[in-house]
Amino acid sequence: MNGSAAPPRAQLTALPAWQALAEHYGRVGKLHLRQIFAEDPQRGERLVAEAGGLYLDYSKNRVTDETLRLLLQLAKECGLAESIAAMFGGQKINASEQRPALHIALNARQDEHFLVDGIDVVPEVHAVLQHMAVFSEDIRSGRWLGYTGKAIRNIVNIGIGGSDLGPVMAYEALRYYSRRDMNFRFLSNIDGTDFVEVTRDLDPEETLFIIVSKTFATLETLTNACTARDWSLRKLKDKSAIQKHFVAVSTNAEGVAEFGIDTANMFGFWDWVGGRYSMDSAVGLSTMIAIGARNFRDMLSGFHAMDEHFRSTPFERNLPVLMGLLAIWNNNFLGAGTVAVLPYEHYLKRFPAYLQQLAMESNGKHVTLDGDRVAVPTGPVYWGEPGTNGQHSFYQLIHQGTQIVPCDFIGFCQPLNPVGRHHALLLANLFAQAEALAFGKTADQVRAEGKPAWLVPHLVCDGNRPTNTILAPCLTPQTLGQLVALYEHSVFTQGIIWNIDSFDQWGVELGKLLAQRIIPELESVEEPELKHDSSTNALIWRYRRLRKEES
Ligand code: F6P
Repeated sequence: MNGSAAPPRAQLTALPAWQALAEHYGRVGKLHLRQIFAEDPQRGERLVAEAGGLYLDYSKNRVTDETLRLLLQLAKECGLAESIAAMFGGQKINASEQRPALHIALNARQDEHFLVDGIDVVPEVHAVLQHMAVFSEDIRSGRWLGYTGKAIRNIVNIGIGGSDLGPVMAYEALRYYSRRDMNFRFLSNIDGTDFVEVTRDLDPEETLFIIVSKTFATLETLTNACTARDWSLRKLKDKSAIQKHFVAVSTNAEGVAEFGIDTANMFGFWDWVGGRYSMDSAVGLSTMIAIGARNFRDMLSGFHAMDEHFRSTPFERNLPVLMGLLAIWNNNFLGAGTVAVLPYEHYLKRFPAYLQQLAMESNGKHVTLDGDRVAVPTGPVYWGEPGTNGQHSFYQLIHQGTQIVPCDFIGFCQPLNPVGRHHALLLANLFAQAEALAFGKTADQVRAEGKPAWLVPHLVCDGNRPTNTILAPCLTPQTLGQLVALYEHSVFTQGIIWNIDSFDQWGVELGKLLAQRIIPELESVEEPELKHDSSTNALIWRYRRLRKEES
């Protein structure tokens, strides 16, 4: 019995391809990339794939042709093709929430059709895009005025999780294309410091808040939105000013109206768009205001190109499928519990943080779609920093540490800001890191450099560390769309192999619930009766005592 229409699946580890991979790992697991490359001089040109200018070099993974054949066989036995068709067909693949996961419809062209319960959602998607375009242009042109007649110069996106990480990442990534005479800020944390720092130098008369919340029920977002409303009204005085300084992005019109926002200034999306898959919906309103409607549509065309590539390209040339299957190999056979994402492009500095939610909220699951405990580790930890900063920080562990950290290097051939030799130096570092991680440095090589014997072991780099390199011509709105969709579908591929629901997030609920119980225990004037464990009780008592002493 499971929540999806699909029949229960055989346990992953019982599948013939999985067993063949396990047996195969016994034979090739110790092979070194030095040997693999030496035996196949064309490997670096062979184990690559390309989609719309996005070039994936996966040759520096610890795989042979046989490994790849077996991984593709695994995809077949797990029904990946059928699952892709089910997602594009609007089936309720988010089984535990009984919903489709149809974020791909957000990128559809007007002449395409995506059905939810028999209804084509594409016209609605385009109606919202049109609404966003008109509104964005009104703001950008100065036609939309604040309550006191001043143009809007500051945009503050209030949201958290998918309602923040996508918008902030996209803004940073596409800052080159953005309006430089406007300020774009992102308020997410319930920590009052975030509010104070985001608003400290802003004038309410020139500030527009975009309240982004799919549910319009998230504690952090509603708390920040209420504080922002108070902050605005302290200067603007009149409640009707809210209509000029607050708009919403949500699926919950009732909640939006209750807050005091005119629902004519609400940009809708749908329950079939997961928060972490929503930056190409109205959740990207701040992005559109920053870069303009045409650039936003270019971004969507990038998403769309990758969606189509994923849907229709044979798996052996399909970038997201290859990346997803390699992630399975690295995680489940090589035993790597993390993936480092290392963009050699400063504008992508928030990309790893964005991917953390995309990958970890999607695939951090311990139960299969059939309700059984998973038989293998799922959901590696995603993390990273832009190059070259990481090189002077954590790369030491990646090169010589005791755990394997597969890395995704991301680079662009054309710099957006050509400055002297900087770009060649940046890209040289990217290529060098991937080379060093793959091939390392042997004791013989170190000795040949004349190093004293006692120092040799310290200078050896084992190499054999798996990496992908993603190279694109230039960071454009379109490339960003391609890149995000690449990871979305790679995450999907991994979720299908593990047979988990990549679109729910039940694990986040327990902590939220417990916080609701603790809030009054921290705030009450009376001494509350605490019924937690002894550790939680002691922490609450200590907090209360210190707060009392301070006041
Ligand atoms: O608590 C997790 C979560 O539900 C995320 O999945 C989501 O992106 C975030 O909270 C924000 O939710 P909302 O957009 O409904 O405020």
